[in-house]
Amino acid sequence: MRPTPAPRTYRVKSFGCQMNVYDGERMAELLAQQGITAAPEGEDADLVVLNTCHIREKAAEKVYSDIGRLRRDDGSSPLIAVAGCVAQAEGEEIMARAPAVSMVVGPQAYHRLPGMIAEAVAGRRAVDTDMPAETKFGALPARRKVGPSAFLTVQEGCDKFCTYCVVPYTRGAEISRPFAEIVAEAERLVEAGAREITLIGQNVNAWHGEDGKGRAIGLDGLARVLADLPDLARIRYTTSHPNDMTDGLIAAHGDNPKLMPFLHLPVQAGNDRVLRAMNRSHTVESYLRILDRVRAVRPDIALSGDFIVGFPGETEAEFADTLKLVDAVGYAQCFSFKYSPRPGTPAATMADQIPAAVMDERLQRLQAALNRDQHAFNQASVGKRCTVLVERKGKLPGQWLGKSPWLQSVHFAGEAAIGDLVEVELVHAGPNSLGGALVASPRP
Ligand code: SAH
Ligand code: SF4
Ligand code: F3S
Repeated sequence: MRPTPAPRTYRVKSFGCQMNVYDGERMAELLAQQGITAAPEGEDADLVVLNTCHIREKAAEKVYSDIGRLRRDDGSSPLIAVAGCVAQAEGEEIMARAPAVSMVVGPQAYHRLPGMIAEAVAGRRAVDTDMPAETKFGALPARRKVGPSAFLTVQEGCDKFCTYCVVPYTRGAEISRPFAEIVAEAERLVEAGAREITLIGQNVNAWHGEDGKGRAIGLDGLARVLADLPDLARIRYTTSHPNDMTDGLIAAHGDNPKLMPFLHLPVQAGNDRVLRAMNRSHTVESYLRILDRVRAVRPDIALSGDFIVGFPGETEAEFADTLKLVDAVGYAQCFSFKYSPRPGTPAATMADQIPAAVMDERLQRLQAALNRDQHAFNQASVGKRCTVLVERKGKLPGQWLGKSPWLQSVHFAGEAAIGDLVEVELVHAGPNSLGGALVASPRP
């Protein structure tokens, strides 16, 4: 690789989960601190960061086509950094397969990006997939301007080792960020314009720490402290694991008014044999009991989950149990995926891998059921009054888009501005969004 001029503009493209979106924002802040500015929309950037996801096959393959697409008409390429979970899992392979890439940086090492850029400018390619003992957070610049709804990583990594999943390998062991660091970041986010904070982590409800008085607390205790920030109106958290759903967190849904009535609690499958083979360590019954308890303290809670169809060995009858569970719960919205064998995970070498056509057909049936329930949940909301946090302008003139407490997209017309919490009556429901009528606006 030849020396290249120092980059003046950057673009960060994030794929994957909220953790990656958060990391992408932090990398952008880090680059801005180095005097590199965001490339204007539609213009080439000198430096492109592909912040990748490894959770399913397509996600990983996409990286290579994206790298190819960055090649300019004259055959040159920008400086390319591959970050995120594909970087962690396939660092050396990316270097070998994609000569246009000059930097590969894992999710726990991206605070070292400035040094790697200096190397790349000098003509040296660099891979950094360390999981250093010092955490990246301390080395990152303070949060800058954010939208009304912001993510805050409080927990990273996973020790659960579900047999299909790469996360424990790409993100490392489960760690909780210290309480004081999180509170300070939340304060900065609120100062920077956030009215809603979503606490995020691969297993966010496993978060634990010590509060300012040295008392052991969990996520419910953290949410209680954050609820004291006067300008913070809403708190959410995602993604949770059923085994870490503590009594305190369940109770918080009944007694912390800033905690929004939404719970994303992935179950993956509705059959105990499949759950055991997945190493999920919960049963259908124990999962449903948690939902009952949350509904008891917060009857209007919107429930969400993740599903995998076609896990190795899944029979038609076992899949039918998943449909049964869906019918029993009545989810407000869900994610569902075809099983994707990930290299290095135990499930990838299990017998009885399910043919693609069978997975396709099961996924279609599952999604039909989930879409039906999502639409029904939205329809049942019609007639309710609720707050909407305005996040952006809608497509039509005078129209605004925001989120209901139940995380539904709501559009409405009238006097408002981004960041307002307005009161609307929900008047119309579609499968993916609702229409609202403004009841009261904070603007005169
Ligand atoms: N920590 C969270 C989820 C992290 S990954 C949890 O345990 O629930 C997000 C989702 O991707 C998972 O919930 C699962 O549904 C899906 N997923 C993970 N590995 C997968 C694989 N190999 N194939 C298909 N879907 C997968
Ligand atoms: Fe993956 Fe399971 Fe950990 Fe979730 S709990 S990140 S699915 S290993
Ligand atoms: Fe993907 Fe990594 Fe998130 S694999 S889902 S970006 S933790």
